[in-house]
Amino acid sequence: MSPDATHAPSSPCRARIAVLPGDGIGPEVTAAAVAALRAVGRRFGHAFAFDEALIGGAAIDASDEALPAATVAACEGADAVLLGAVGGPKWSDPKAALRPEQGLLALRRALGVYANLRPVRPHPATLAHSAIKAEVLAGVDLIVVRELTGGSYFGRKERHADRALDVCEYSVAEIERVARHAFRLARTRRGRLTSVDKANVLETSRLWREVVTRVHRDEFPDVVLEHQLVDSMAMHLIARPRDYDVVLTENLFGDILTDEAAMLAGSMGLLPSAALGDGTRGLYEPIHGSAPDIAGKGIANPIAAILSAALLLRHSLGLHREAEAVEAAVSAVLDAGAGDARLRPRDLGGSASTLDLAQAVIARLGDASKPYPAVALRD
Ligand code: IPM
Ligand code: MG
Repeated sequence: MSPDATHAPSSPCRARIAVLPGDGIGPEVTAAAVAALRAVGRRFGHAFAFDEALIGGAAIDASDEALPAATVAACEGADAVLLGAVGGPKWSDPKAALRPEQGLLALRRALGVYANLRPVRPHPATLAHSAIKAEVLAGVDLIVVRELTGGSYFGRKERHADRALDVCEYSVAEIERVARHAFRLARTRRGRLTSVDKANVLETSRLWREVVTRVHRDEFPDVVLEHQLVDSMAMHLIARPRDYDVVLTENLFGDILTDEAAMLAGSMGLLPSAALGDGTRGLYEPIHGSAPDIAGKGIANPIAAILSAALLLRHSLGLHREAEAVEAAVSAVLDAGAGDARLRPRDLGGSASTLDLAQAVIARLGDASKPYPAVALRD
């Protein structure tokens, strides 16, 4: 998973990718991402095989379980997993014993993907669509590393007539492994890490801070570490987002802060994520939800899903050049959309359909018979 500095042309790769479309707009955006991956396969000479499986509400409807054993088996037999989104009003009855989200949480746990990378790099063409001033956003390039398989999401849960509880528990080992992941990542970037906790109130946060401080001192003294309380982080993330490089935090804080960070990019429809464990197999999903209000209309923005496919190419398959090609194609589409509403996603005020956007990205990826179009990757 170490970045390949040379980005030399990769030899032909055969990979099996499990595709879990899920609910709402999940099937539409994953179809676009799969189409982009197929185009990458044609353009660069790789053979990707796709295996579809059920998760979330779709799985509950089909088999009364949010994560069928066949889905886990398909994911375990794959080199990487691409997921759409889970959930929707149909399965949201607070009294329901079975919820789509349980499928996603169980899958994260089953695959051991404890480090969730959520990069935020607002594209110049979308700055005007953010509620935040463009001058605050220019040059923002941060990545949140969210611990994904611990904390209150996975602690003991109880529901009684007059009270309920969700236990938040972290072990030293759980904190160490995600901290190492984040420090290693910081070394490949600007060498700064902000660890976010609530150490003035929570015992788990005091342990978190202690462990992160020790891992830093013993193993990564070259990285600049700062600690930040989550409430003030929520404020600084909006007020001075340019100051952050790698942001490390626990599960629930990371969930909340990354929805907030999505607003820096202008829309939830743009942000991808990669969930990684100790091996190369990862789980890739847009950070947005299933958006039931627009599901089935063919208008969802597939860019977050397509960028998640780029992360899959990079982190699970080691295809760096291909990942950059997808990111460059997306960047070119966003540039084109700035001046043409027909190429701009609806969540950014345009009128492009899911298919329009997928086709525009694929056209810019080219195929084996055409030279790869020269588009700038970074702003
Ligand atoms: C996310 C989502 C999930 C989470 C839900 C769907 C369980 O909000 O990936 O950010 O809370 O982790
Ligand atoms: Mg979330």
